[in-house]
Amino acid sequence: MLPIIKAIAAEYSVTDGPDDEGEMFDRPALPSDRFPSPYPNSKAAAATNNGAVPPDLSLIAKARVGGPDYLYGILTGYAEPAHDIELLPGQYYNKYMPGNVLAMAPPLSEGIVAYEDGTPEHVSQYAKDVSHFLMWAAEPKLEARKAVGVKVFLFLLVFAGIMYRVKKKIWANAH
Ligand code: HEM
Repeated sequence: MLPIIKAIAAEYSVTDGPDDEGEMFDRPALPSDRFPSPYPNSKAAAATNNGAVPPDLSLIAKARVGGPDYLYGILTGYAEPAHDIELLPGQYYNKYMPGNVLAMAPPLSEGIVAYEDGTPEHVSQYAKDVSHFLMWAAEPKLEARKAVGVKVFLFLLVFAGIMYRVKKKIWANAH
């Protein structure tokens, strides 16, 4: 686990418990905690977002067909509405949203976050980073699992070679 992830998680506070006295208590968050919701409940979420409830993003990269590609598409897919689509107030046209209408204002805009290493500060770069992060958040062990998979295949390949030689040796004198 990257220390930076632990540090970012610790900036948030989560409710845990109950403790030995039966009381709930707040503590700094760990990477294994759920993302704390900025809203107390879904009604409050809808009330502050024009009637639409924002989805929980913690597993969204696995919950949608296309995963991170879908997220990248949504984040970069805002455009002028196609001529036959009428938008109500608070609705936005998005090329990649199924149905093309979305009740989320574009969350990213050019130059919104400064990169210290000179990475271009464009929406497409931000969208790549956010989608990449959300894929990691949805399945943090993916890379480790795939690395083990490669090692297992290499082992099986070598083992098959050894077994082949053993078989040849054992059956060498059988006519
Ligand atoms: C970069 C950060 C964000 C990402 C990656 C993101 C991602 C998404 C995605 C993928 C959807 C489509 C829902 C689906 O597939 O079911 C969505 C919907 C929505 N998002 Fe965001 N979002 C972000 C930031 C925000 C922010 C800052 C707000 C509010 C201030 C917001 C409010 C909403 C709402 C209200 C919807 C529901 C839209 C509807 O039902 O039509 N999002 N978001």
